[in-house]
Amino acid sequence: MGFYDRHVLPHLIDFACGMGAVMKARAQIVPQAQGRVLEIGIGSGLNLGFYDAQRVEVVVGVDPSAEMQALARERAAHCQVPVEMIALELGQLQAADASFDDIVCTFTLCTIPDAVAALREMRRVLKPGGRLLFCEHGLAPDLPVVRWQRRLTPWWKPLAGGCHLDRDIPALIEAGGFQVRELSTGYLKGPRPMTHVYRGWAD
Ligand SMILES: C[S@@+](CC[C@H](N)C(=O)[O-])C[C@H]1O[C@@H](n2cnc3c(N)ncnc32)[C@H](O)[C@@H]1O
Repeated sequence: MGFYDRHVLPHLIDFACGMGAVMKARAQIVPQAQGRVLEIGIGSGLNLGFYDAQRVEVVVGVDPSAEMQALARERAAHCQVPVEMIALELGQLQAADASFDDIVCTFTLCTIPDAVAALREMRRVLKPGGRLLFCEHGLAPDLPVVRWQRRLTPWWKPLAGGCHLDRDIPALIEAGGFQVRELSTGYLKGPRPMTHVYRGWAD
């Protein structure tokens, strides 16, 4: 991993993912989490301030980037809920089957190389009756925007840590063994190829 990925990208991601419209989108999903919560791709910990301390026992974060984890640990020190980290080894979450009440995944399915395999792992560790709460950007509903998403993704991906602009998020979630139960979609403020967001939950 080069200088850009290690020292520049984590701060760019923290800045971009911390913008007002993105934070508002998180605020509609993250407070719904309860119990023992797994956060996939915790990144710099931008969701931590949105957990409801009355409902959440612990947030267990996973992220393959040591640099992002370090930023998340800094935020965790000022957060109302206990935060722990677990490892991801060869795509496997280091957690027992059916060990989480809810899973939170925000702005991460765009980046995980094999998103379907990762979703199957989420399915494995989620308790029966538990929910996958998601807020993800992806494939737009408008063909001209989709064309830009397809054109830009090969250039965008290496600059943005592997992020794809054109993933069909509900289709991926269902291919990973979940059923999407609630879904709202729309563009956030900003360039349309990057800002079409899918929010909701699946089980
Ligand atoms: C755009 S950032 C979003 C971070 C955070 N979820 C947020 O909402 O601000 C994508 C994150 O996914 C992480 N990531 C990449 N591959 C992953 C994987 N296989 N499993 C979990 N997280 C992964 C990256 O390290 C990065 O922190």
